[in-house]
Amino acid sequence: MSDNLFELHVGYVSFKNPLALAPMAGIVDSEFARKYASDAGLVVLGAFNMDEASFKVASALVARGRKEFLCRESPLEVIQKEIRSVNSKSAVAVNVRSATLAPLIEAAKVVKKEGAILELNAHCRQPEMLEAGLGEALLSDLPKLMEWIRAIKETGVVLSVKVRANVVDDIKLARAIDRAGADIIHLDAMHEGFDGPDLEAILTYRDSTRLFLIANNSIRTFAGAKEAFSWGADMVSVARGAQNDPDLIPDLVKSVSSYQQAIGWYNAPKHVCSSGDFRGLAFCCLPVKPCPVHAKFQKLGYTAEEFARTKLDFAKGTLLEFGKDTCFGSLVWCCKVSKPCWIRDGALNALDLSDSEYMKLKRELAEYVLDHAKVPVNES
Ligand SMILES: Cc1cc2nc3c(=O)[nH]c(=O)nc-3n(C[C@H](O)[C@H](O)[C@H](O)COP(=O)(O)O)c2cc1C
Ligand code: SF4
Ligand code: SF4
Repeated sequence: MSDNLFELHVGYVSFKNPLALAPMAGIVDSEFARKYASDAGLVVLGAFNMDEASFKVASALVARGRKEFLCRESPLEVIQKEIRSVNSKSAVAVNVRSATLAPLIEAAKVVKKEGAILELNAHCRQPEMLEAGLGEALLSDLPKLMEWIRAIKETGVVLSVKVRANVVDDIKLARAIDRAGADIIHLDAMHEGFDGPDLEAILTYRDSTRLFLIANNSIRTFAGAKEAFSWGADMVSVARGAQNDPDLIPDLVKSVSSYQQAIGWYNAPKHVCSSGDFRGLAFCCLPVKPCPVHAKFQKLGYTAEEFARTKLDFAKGTLLEFGKDTCFGSLVWCCKVSKPCWIRDGALNALDLSDSEYMKLKRELAEYVLDHAKVPVNES
């Protein structure tokens, strides 16, 4: 299978597929990654404790029976060795905790040299962590979080920020991370009291930023992963599921690869009238009747006329220009391939355009509509 089937790149990092192993302190190291996730697109090692405060808290947690990676003397050497020991074609990220900025900058330099991703842990929430200003405590001070992101990004490292949904205002948080210059948001879409990811939260992040979005929480089947993709995740990560089932990541990778080959856009959004994100505008009709399309394109600063013109401009010179028998005279207004329609399928057949080629064009169209918005997504 081609390593470029998904065409996923963030800065100097490429992902061979959109499946990740999520971090679990004291559990996810290079050995675990080799055993459970050798074919994942990304493995996130850690968390590693980078300063005295985080080491102290982690030691106290270990004394209470929790697993942690404790490497007080030489965390940077351990990180470097761990990245190298993953030894697969997976991209590697390193999840780090610190109550101070300086050790994060040092970690960023090492991680960048190894071609890996630094993941800032703004997620762990044991009371001791919060008290020491670690993990989720970073979410309660967005200006400080932004200042840290800016400073870390000066090293040139590809930076992910791991957060939990429904803790603070998710729109403000997504925008703050985006504006400060991070590259990736790794979202634990936790929904207190529910089994499965909070899909609305994934949509909220998707419509607040164009950053690469990794989502997780209780994903154990391809149906669950597919849902997270269709609500806006670029990548899905699993933690407990991988620990409980060594075949989970390989099975998910196989399923998403076959799906991408057949469909051409593994994380195609839903239609806008079914809670689709902004990218769903690629499947919208000519805006001639009252429906949710109007509110959606208005958020991006388009008038109806400008929205229609933008789609037609993209279509010019592509096969989406054709399809005169379809509802609005061109495939540029047509629905997702998953919606059965013999008229559209007839037009695709006549053009010898496969479903996956059609969906790839729709993906490019979605990017074009977002690129030309008067109000950028992170301000909409
Ligand atoms: C034992 C354990 C340890 C974890 N440690 C970390 C950690 O160190 N850093 C972090 O960002 N998330 C950590 N997480 C959170 C996971 O990465 C993930 O977001 C969460 O478990 C939800 O995904 P899942 O339902 O696939 O497990 C941990 C989760 C578990 C179960
Ligand atoms: S334009 Fe069509 S696809 Fe888009 S929201 Fe309206 S009815 Fe749904
Ligand atoms: S022709 Fe079919 S796919 Fe195209 S807009 Fe009409 S119903 Fe949708």
